[in-house]
Amino acid sequence: MKGKKKLIIPAAAVLALIAWFVIMNFIPHRPVYTAALPGLPAELEGFKIVQISDLHGASLGKDNSRLVNMVERSKPDAIAITGDILHSADQLETAEKLIKQLTPMAPVYYVTGNHEWASGQAANVKEAVARAGGIALSNEFVFLGSDSGGLVIAGCDDPNGYADQKTPQELIAEIKAVHPDSPIVMLYHRNHGLEKLSGAHAVLCGHGHGSPINAHSEIFRALLTGQRGEGNLIDWETYRSGMYDLGGMDICVSRGIGCSIIPLRVTWMHLPTLMLTTD
Ligand SMILES: [Fe+2]
Repeated sequence: MKGKKKLIIPAAAVLALIAWFVIMNFIPHRPVYTAALPGLPAELEGFKIVQISDLHGASLGKDNSRLVNMVERSKPDAIAITGDILHSADQLETAEKLIKQLTPMAPVYYVTGNHEWASGQAANVKEAVARAGGIALSNEFVFLGSDSGGLVIAGCDDPNGYADQKTPQELIAEIKAVHPDSPIVMLYHRNHGLEKLSGAHAVLCGHGHGSPINAHSEIFRALLTGQRGEGNLIDWETYRSGMYDLGGMDICVSRGIGCSIIPLRVTWMHLPTLMLTTD
C-alpha cells in the first residue's frame, strides 16, 4: 500500500506533463490583444486581425479544418499570415489550401519569413497566395478606408530576401507621403530588429516560437561563431510572446503554430487576435 502511494505523485506528474504537451501541441492559445491607434476612424473601432504565424507546413485537422474553424470563430476583419508558412517545397499545397479556405472570411495578408527564402520557395508561395485569393505584401501596403480616413496595412519581406529590397523605413516614408494621418499596422516576420519599423503604429510578428531555447541558441551561436542573426540579440529574449510597447509602437508577437526542426513544441501554440481601438 505504501509503495502504491509512493507511485501516485510521480504518475500524476507524468500525466500532467503529457496533458501539458498535448495542449501546447494541439490546442492553440487564442488571446485577444488590443492596440489603440491614433487616427483610427471610429467606423474601424474594434477591427480584428487574426494572426497566423510560423505554420511551418502544419495542418490542424484534415486540410487545416480545425485551424480554419478557430479563425472563423474569431470573426476576423482581416487575417495576417506573418511568415514561415512553410519550410520545404512539399508543404506548398497545404499552404495554398489553407489560404483558399480563409479568403472567404476576410482579406488575407501575407509576408514572407526566413524559411520561405531559405527553402527557395518565396516566389512560389507569393504566387500561391495570389492564386488562393490572398495578398502578399512584399514591401507594399494597402489602404482600408475612404477620403475621410482609414487604416494602412503594410508588410515587409523578411531580411533573408533580396539584399537590395526596399527597407522598412523607405516603405514607411512612402506610406506617410500618401496617408500622413492614417495609422499603420505592419506585418513583419522577425521578433528582433524591430526598431527599424519605427513610424508604424502596430506590428504583428512571430519567428521566435516564444521559445527561450531559440533565444538562447541564437546567443550561443553568436558567442561560438562570432556571427549573429540580423537584429539585436537582446530582442530575442525581450519580444518572445504577447504584447509589447516599443517607443509607442504596439507589438504583437505570436509564438506561432508549427515546428521547424524538432517536431514538438515546447511553448504553447498561439493564434492571437489583435483588436484595434481608437486612441
Ligand atoms: Fe522564422
